[in-house]
Amino acid sequence: MQIEPFKLERYFAKYEFKVKYLLSPSDCEPIKMAELLKMASFESLKLWENLKLSYTESQGHSLLRREVANLYKNISDDDLLIAAPEEAIFIAMNTLLKPDDHLIAISPAYQSLYQIAHAKGCSITNWELQLKPNSNNNLDPGTLNGTSSWSIDIDFLKQNINDKTRMIVINFPHNPTGHTLSRSEFDAIIDIARRYGIYIFSDEMYRFLEFSPSDKLPSVSDVYEKGISLSGMSKSFALPGLRIGWLATQDTNLIQKWLEFKDYTTICNSSPSEILAIMALQNKKELIRRNLEIISKNISIAEQFFQNNNDLFSWVRPKAGSVAFPKLLGDFQVEKFCKKILEDKEIMIVYGELFGFFGNHFRIGLGRENFGEIIDILDSYLKNNF
Ligand SMILES: Cc1ncc(COP(=O)(O)O)c(C=O)c1O
Repeated sequence: MQIEPFKLERYFAKYEFKVKYLLSPSDCEPIKMAELLKMASFESLKLWENLKLSYTESQGHSLLRREVANLYKNISDDDLLIAAPEEAIFIAMNTLLKPDDHLIAISPAYQSLYQIAHAKGCSITNWELQLKPNSNNNLDPGTLNGTSSWSIDIDFLKQNINDKTRMIVINFPHNPTGHTLSRSEFDAIIDIARRYGIYIFSDEMYRFLEFSPSDKLPSVSDVYEKGISLSGMSKSFALPGLRIGWLATQDTNLIQKWLEFKDYTTICNSSPSEILAIMALQNKKELIRRNLEIISKNISIAEQFFQNNNDLFSWVRPKAGSVAFPKLLGDFQVEKFCKKILEDKEIMIVYGELFGFFGNHFRIGLGRENFGEIIDILDSYLKNNF
């Protein structure tokens, strides 16, 4: 398979472990091993101590699948495949799609959500999130703080379905905007997919990080028989280093196909990671609360920063997840802006083009403890240089 380089991941690979500061990571402050072991139950500590570093069950440890199934209403232990999140996308796209299929995929997006399909010879219609002025004013979108919001056009979805459309790809809470759907939009997408018998691949890596209970949505896999949900430990549970994620679906035929494909990727998961994931999921409420607290503190810092610098940036307050996608105003090109800051201050910021988006936006990560420190450095730098 010929596949384009993954721009965002290549950019991270180049700088993430070399620069002093990261302003754009999408994960929450990673949990330390000692913290996780401290919260572990007696039984899971026993599993840890007695763990044999052997091959593991290809579908995923049965106790881990039990804990993951507890995150859903209509998904049982057997309706899950445990795999690294990025691997899970690769497995699902490879087993569900064939050349000539058509997809409608949310945009901007994490590149693998559309690139694997492209490499397989599918055609893709980008379903773009748009920056719209809020209804109580008619100001130019993106030029004033707080007056615009991200939105999605459901009619666009209806109008772009054709005979070959096999899959709709969505990702809410959304990376990179921090937007999420209303319940009526969510239901409308499911209705449309059901009417045409189309799969929905729903990337739910940031699920449970909704800031308001009213923004919580069901998992697509719980409510739609042709829904496939991707989730994992990397974002909402602050454990990206485990490399543990999963696919959930009510369509049991798919699980068999995924298992056959996984024999050509990793065969099975890392045994220590599976036990650590069990420990974390048994403490899910505490972990999610901790992550939401960090994000909430950082949103207040970001809000103040964007207010102080409203001649340079516009920003839409995110609704969910650990990222936001502000816009650099004026003529200065955002890629140049990010690279200048990288060079002058060793702060790595990822720009919109890395998500296939050309509107002078950049991503900020709101999940890390040192967000405020980096914002202070950036603020003084901007005062003297922009
Ligand atoms: C929307 C989305 N999906 C999937 C992934 C892949 O997760 P992982 O890097 O843990 O494999 C990411 C990671 O950034 C992501 O943001």
